[in-house]
Amino acid sequence: MGANCAVNLAHKELGDVVLVDVVEGVPQGKGLDCLQSGPIEGYDVMVTGANDYEPTANSDIVVITAGFPRKPGMSRDDLLMANYEVVKTATQKAAAVSPNAVIILVTNPLDAMCWTALQVSKFPKNRVIGMAGVLDSARFRTFIAQELKVSVENVTAVVLGGHGDTMVPVTRLSSVAGIPLTELLDEATLARLVDRTRNGGAEIVKYLKTGSAYYAPSAAAVEMVESILKDKKKVLPCAAYLEGEYGINGLYVGVPVKLGSEGIEKIYEIQLTPEEKAQLDKSAAAVDELITVIKSKMTA
Ligand code: 2OP
Repeated sequence: MGANCAVNLAHKELGDVVLVDVVEGVPQGKGLDCLQSGPIEGYDVMVTGANDYEPTANSDIVVITAGFPRKPGMSRDDLLMANYEVVKTATQKAAAVSPNAVIILVTNPLDAMCWTALQVSKFPKNRVIGMAGVLDSARFRTFIAQELKVSVENVTAVVLGGHGDTMVPVTRLSSVAGIPLTELLDEATLARLVDRTRNGGAEIVKYLKTGSAYYAPSAAAVEMVESILKDKKKVLPCAAYLEGEYGINGLYVGVPVKLGSEGIEKIYEIQLTPEEKAQLDKSAAAVDELITVIKSKMTA
């Protein structure tokens, strides 16, 4: 996942990239391999690898992908405490040398890992963001486009909530070239696509057996990086720390945000139907359960 991010970042010449991993030689080797694609692909950025964080000092963006991936049959939540330790250490070390960076979390369970990074880094909330909604909505868009046999470029989709089985793909706010999705597909089809989106990560884990998806997740993270570095102010669904928005307090949950040079520059609060709100609350409650587990283990 990290290496794929590096390749995508280099292709877009978004900046110099430092890959960090605890395994000796792996980041160095992958970094060098990625660098050597430059003359062929026509990009001209530096890509290096390291086993410590010193070479990452003064980064504008830190993308944390470190952690254990799921195995078949596991939910993202099963990774909680193992990845808590990984993310805690990575955040501490990265934040110490890049105090002004924007941190983008990718590690699962995503929303709980964002919360961890916010606590550990003590960064302002606009500079600690989670990648999930861009991926989940890309999956939803893919399935919609396949179903309707139209270009994915015409499909926009909104997915709210935590990056878990309770995520909330909002069909009412999704469209094809402006045509509401609800006018194009019947309820049963929509329900099937929503379900496939919710299980989109698990579908890939089941195929791969030894790891989880990485092409689409890294493309999603890079879209966020690009919007921040170029101050594009794209409106994207991301995990954001909510303090009262949507009636949710003190949790990371996926919502539409504006991403610019300050990180999250605005959280959009959209009017939800009672049913959508109930689904969002259920999803937030699932995130809250994980935070409660972390808190209990932290103090134990
Ligand atoms: C996924 O949904 C890895 O959580 C990521 O595939």
